[in-house]
Formats: sequence, C-alpha cells, structure tokens
Amino acid sequence: MRLFFALPLPASLQLEIDHWCTQSLPAQIERVPAKNYHLTLAFLGDVATSQLERLNQEADQILTSILLTQSDRSIHIDQIGYFTRAQIFWVGPSVWPENLTRLAQKLQLLGARLNCGKGGPKSRQPYQPHISLIRHCTDAITAPDRPRFTLMLEEVVLFESLQTRSGVHYQPIECWPLEQTLPQRFADRPALPRRPRQKH
Ligand code: 2AM
Repeated sequence: MRLFFALPLPASLQLEIDHWCTQSLPAQIERVPAKNYHLTLAFLGDVATSQLERLNQEADQILTSILLTQSDRSIHIDQIGYFTRAQIFWVGPSVWPENLTRLAQKLQLLGARLNCGKGGPKSRQPYQPHISLIRHCTDAITAPDRPRFTLMLEEVVLFESLQTRSGVHYQPIECWPLEQTLPQRFADRPALPRRPRQKH
C-alpha cells in the first residue's frame, strides 16, 4: 500500500484555493484536482499490509506526544513556492509552529523504520508545509496576488494513494483528531474509524 500522512483541507478551502488558482495562474496549465489538495506531513511509500497495525500504534504514540495548541492549529497559507527538482508549484505558510515540523519529522522517521526501501521518499529536504497545485511544472510561476487563506488543522489522516482510471485518488484509511470535538464542516464526509487519544 502506498501510504502518506497528511493534513486534509476542508472542501470549502479546497474550492477557495481552486478559485484563487483560476484567477491567478496561467489558464493552460494542468492543475492538481481541488479534491486532492492536502498538506503532506510524511510520505511513507509502499508499506506492507501486515505492518499497518504497528504503523497505527506508533502513530498513536507520536500524535499523543506532540501537542498542537489551538493557536498552533491555525495556519496561514500566504506564500507561493516552487520545488525545482520535484517540479512542484505550491502554496503554503511562510511561518508555522515548531511542533508541526516535529510531528512531520517523527512521522517521516516512522515511515523510514517501516518502509523496506521501496518507493519511499527520495530526498530529505527540510520540512516545508505545502499544498501541491501543479505537478510536472518545468518553470517557476509568478502570481499577481499572494494567497491569503487560513487552514484550521483538525485532524491527521493516513491516506492510501490509489491510481484509478479517473486519476489519482486519496483514500483515507485512518484518522487522528487533533481535538476531540468533530467540527461541523466535516460532517458530510464518509465516516472514518476514529482513534481515541491515549493518556500517558
Ligand atoms: P506533496 O504533493 O505534498 O509533495 C501522495 O502521493 C503525496 O505524497 C503527494 O501529494 C506528495 O506530496 C507525496 N509524495 C509522493 N511521492 C513522493 C516521494 N517520492 N517523495 C516524497 N513525497 C512524495
């Protein structure tokens, strides 16, 4: 299973960003479908199904050990960027809480422990939270307007990346709420198995 941990975006924010893209980016460039916008924490690559339970247990411990306060969970998406080697054009925050980086690092290390070297991340760059908007983007793109969005982090989701006839589909397979209360705007999504937060 090709897996990654990510911070999902509510559908309303996906649409807002998509609208900004339509207004601000060249029309002829193919974009990532808005429903696939997310903020990756850690790409794991191929993980054997037999390792899923261990992965979930260790992720439980990591998610319990790193606290993201209410203010940590409010992220301002305010810059555009371009990864030259990966050829990805993205939007993301210019500042973010240290604990978000720590969370990403710990989940990446977990992936490195469980992954047998197949299809894992190719490079270890410093963590830059980002939402990929254009892949196979051969040149940096400029935009007349800076993005100005606020993302409230509500949950960490383990996704399976599936290649389907209609393109890439990200299937949620596990979910860790960052706060116990389920926000209203996620109510229309299919129910996910929810893990109780463990106490030390
Ligand atoms: P990104 O878009 O945030 O860069 C699911 O495939 C997600 O995992 C992608 O959205 C991508 O995140 C990330 N990903 C895919 N292949 C990767 C790789 N080889 N190395 C690092 N991250 C990868």
